[in-house]
Amino acid sequence: MITSVELRQKYLDFFVSKKHKIIPSASLIPENDPTVLFTTAGMHPLVPYLLGEPHPEGDRLTSVQKCVRTNDIDDVGDNRHNTFFEMLGNWSLGDYFKKESIEWSWEFLTSPAWLNLDPKKIAVTVFAGDNDAPRDDESAQIWDELGVPENRIACLSKTETWWGPAGQTGPCGPDTEIFWWQGEGEYPSAKSSPGTDPDSWLEIWNNVFMQYDKTASGKYVPLKQKNVDTGMGLERTLVVLNSFSDVFQIDTFWPIIQKIQAISGREYIESANTVRSMRIIADHLRTATMIMADNIGIAPGNVDQGYIVRRLIRRAVRHGRLIGINENFCSQIAEAVIGIYKNIYSEVLRSHEFIADEIAKEESKFRNTIEQGLKEFEKLLAGFQIAFDKTGERITEISGKQAFKLYESYGFPLEMTLELATENGLTVEVEGFEHAFKAHQDLSRTGAEQKFKGGLADQGEMSVKYHTATHLLHAALRAVLGEHAEQRGSNITAERLRFDFSHPEKMTEEQKERVEDLVNYAIQRDYPVTFAEMTVAEAKEGGAMGLFEDKYGAKVKVYTAGDPNEMPSAHENTLTFSKEICGGPHVANTGVLGKFKIIKEEAVSAGVRRIKASLS
Ligand code: ALA
Repeated sequence: MITSVELRQKYLDFFVSKKHKIIPSASLIPENDPTVLFTTAGMHPLVPYLLGEPHPEGDRLTSVQKCVRTNDIDDVGDNRHNTFFEMLGNWSLGDYFKKESIEWSWEFLTSPAWLNLDPKKIAVTVFAGDNDAPRDDESAQIWDELGVPENRIACLSKTETWWGPAGQTGPCGPDTEIFWWQGEGEYPSAKSSPGTDPDSWLEIWNNVFMQYDKTASGKYVPLKQKNVDTGMGLERTLVVLNSFSDVFQIDTFWPIIQKIQAISGREYIESANTVRSMRIIADHLRTATMIMADNIGIAPGNVDQGYIVRRLIRRAVRHGRLIGINENFCSQIAEAVIGIYKNIYSEVLRSHEFIADEIAKEESKFRNTIEQGLKEFEKLLAGFQIAFDKTGERITEISGKQAFKLYESYGFPLEMTLELATENGLTVEVEGFEHAFKAHQDLSRTGAEQKFKGGLADQGEMSVKYHTATHLLHAALRAVLGEHAEQRGSNITAERLRFDFSHPEKMTEEQKERVEDLVNYAIQRDYPVTFAEMTVAEAKEGGAMGLFEDKYGAKVKVYTAGDPNEMPSAHENTLTFSKEICGGPHVANTGVLGKFKIIKEEAVSAGVRRIKASLS
């Protein structure tokens, strides 16, 4: 048995032995990136560095990154898909390229000193080439030299062997993916490869050769530097190392399954239905717990990340019912999740009470209506038995209005109605639902989904301006309200900034005006914005705000508006307005920001306020 703790450590040790610096996992909630809801890969927090900014820790990095991907949510329930996972990654920022990357992956996987996997059960893919980029003969040759036989090197098209950008634009490139044999029999037949026999091969590692920047017009422009971005799935690799056939058997899942068995009094392997429902419950509550554990304190709600958390919990509650759980149980599952991660990610323990409370509240709320909602659904079903259209065809589509009623009156997220419909051979008129939904409230769920499908923010000019304005606002808020006003979240679009901060009460008109005036003052003064790299201790000594310090490595970047050698304070006539630990990017001078205006100040949750502001 190799444990998750051992594998994380081995991976980091290996890449440290290859001169990489360890960087900590970034938040699951991307900062300053309005176009995605979650961090979906280890490269996500590294985008500015992949595009050419120097990283304070150098050009060889390694990490274990918490990731959430909800695009696979419908596959959860099989033996390999999860919505939360940990990605083991190593990066070259313009340093080594294909040769070292592939050779090191091979060494880590097959060397008796490391994972000692049988090379005969490994296959790889390489990029076949197209109009955007040539065939990757170089990678194929490196694999060949390592002894991977030709029939285990599959040349595939862009859909299989190209990674990124994470959204519409950004760094991307051809990749070479590494697979493990999971098919029938001890060894794959000579003909079997991930190209011809995808179900028998489990992807465990992806090495991306990031050398292009995909622009908004769809062009692939060569990057200033050639990068390597790799991602190895911790969960899947544990499956392989322990010869499991099911990801839910690994040690970051099995205690959760055991808890579900204990609460339901049912066996995991009792039937195909218990297996599926228990997997969905375990996966979804693990993900909901990890999202809520993040520093920002996401709670179940109607929009953005909160809506995803709500969906995950509600689906888990329904699957709990399917295996006979009719009392609140989700907080107990969250406890099991917390037990697994509390020594790995410190925020999990810190958020313990918040998670237990919020999950219990959400579960109770939903339990109040789910019984009735399901009855309503049964009625609908009965109606469909005798529903025919004018031509005599049976009607099998639940109308948007009906789906909306299930949502509005009984709290059924659309996805749950879709799932129930599929289970009963029906479909749902999704457009009609969305129409009714949008008419109901302007902040729509669809907005959240589209955002998720979208990508990393381009480093557009307005976003950069808003990012700098956020620093000025943060400094001004602390000057006006007091040191307790700390950043709790930030979100930027090309039209506005949104900034969450701790403060117990509504801001007065005078306070808002004063903050606005201070920011505009800082803009007029046209402070230079510069950065320097230093240790966290040096940053603090120099007066920098370092609110996310445990997320950074040994060295950090500090951005200053004003004179970096002075202590910061936000008032008229100050030499240094703001200093903050931050990855950038920022404008060069505050004068370019224009006029700053607070559009709205409102509550987000107990003790947290939100400001929306614009530049014009
Ligand atoms: N960014 C690459 C992936 O997520 C490594 O697969």
